[in-house]
Amino acid sequence: MVIHPHPSRGRIVRREGVPFRSNSKGVKLDPSALLEVTGGLDVGVLAALHDESILDAAQFDKATVIALAQAAALLETTDFSMRKPLDGKVVVTAFFEASTRTRLSFESAVLRLDGKVLSVPDGRVTGVQKGESIQDIGEMLNTYGDAVVMRHPETSALDEIRRNLTAPLINAGNGSGQHPTQALLDWYALLKWRPRLADPVCPPDQRVHLGIIGTPGSMRAVNSFVQLALLFEGAVDRMTIISEMADPLGATLTERTKDSKIPIDVTNDIQKVLTDLDVIYMNSIAFLGDDYKTLDSRYKVDANSTLKPGSVIMHPLARRDELDTSLDSTAHNLYFAQAAGAVFIRQAILIAILGRSGAIADALQR
Ligand code: CP
Repeated sequence: MVIHPHPSRGRIVRREGVPFRSNSKGVKLDPSALLEVTGGLDVGVLAALHDESILDAAQFDKATVIALAQAAALLETTDFSMRKPLDGKVVVTAFFEASTRTRLSFESAVLRLDGKVLSVPDGRVTGVQKGESIQDIGEMLNTYGDAVVMRHPETSALDEIRRNLTAPLINAGNGSGQHPTQALLDWYALLKWRPRLADPVCPPDQRVHLGIIGTPGSMRAVNSFVQLALLFEGAVDRMTIISEMADPLGATLTERTKDSKIPIDVTNDIQKVLTDLDVIYMNSIAFLGDDYKTLDSRYKVDANSTLKPGSVIMHPLARRDELDTSLDSTAHNLYFAQAAGAVFIRQAILIAILGRSGAIADALQR
């Protein structure tokens, strides 16, 4: 019988300053203030995620987004990971589509918490190459891992694997559908940048005008980001979608926005709104069935763009030429800080769904 060492006991210790290695350029975010908002972290909200799958940003309420962000802030600012909260757990990362950030940050998240990873970096190394179905792969993964993180170019692959998979599934991007953990890390960055956005009543001078450059209806990261933005009524003053497409939200998102109190405008004229935006969220590629479309050349931003002072630019990356590297060393660059926070938010998600939130409760009580 293998006996796992008990996680270390005693107080968790705060790290000084910006923890670990932070992003090399752009805004460097200190998570400390986020830990103080809304009366502090409610571990019960995390515990409710035990055994849940993470499939669609629409499944979250505001309290869950904030609790996950606060758990990530705890992980980022303390030595909590020394308690080995994922000891004995195996996470399968099954990527049937290319990824830099999502797969590697999930795997780093698991390994830094002393869990183990089974990695499929490319679907061609699986039986899919010989015609095996995703449904059958789901059956195998039930016993190989405790949770599955899957990316797939087909939107329908989530439903297919869930025909047999009973372990919690994390959607790491499904075609033009959703990328919910990307949205959680995006909001983790935004809440670190401006913690008062989490307040039940956000002070007027902290509220933001959010600009979305692209087509949320066919860009999965943007779609998920907008869905979480809808939870922050009163903090998001208004949203402006900047797109050359006639219906950038698409049918599903239009339906989900129709009851929101956040005013949403659509324009194809970036110059008309750029100087009024506090937060600009942009992405490169829109999925159009089997094809994809890059962002219209009108919507490029660089260090000479007329941006509002104090405004920040977000991008899930990878980028093409729509986001010029001349912005990297400016205070508008929040996109590197977004990527830097990915490990911590994914740690928080895994701790919650794998039923290890009690370790956080335990650490907070000492
Ligand atoms: N943001 C994101 O999903 O990046 P990857 O495609 O590199 O995983």
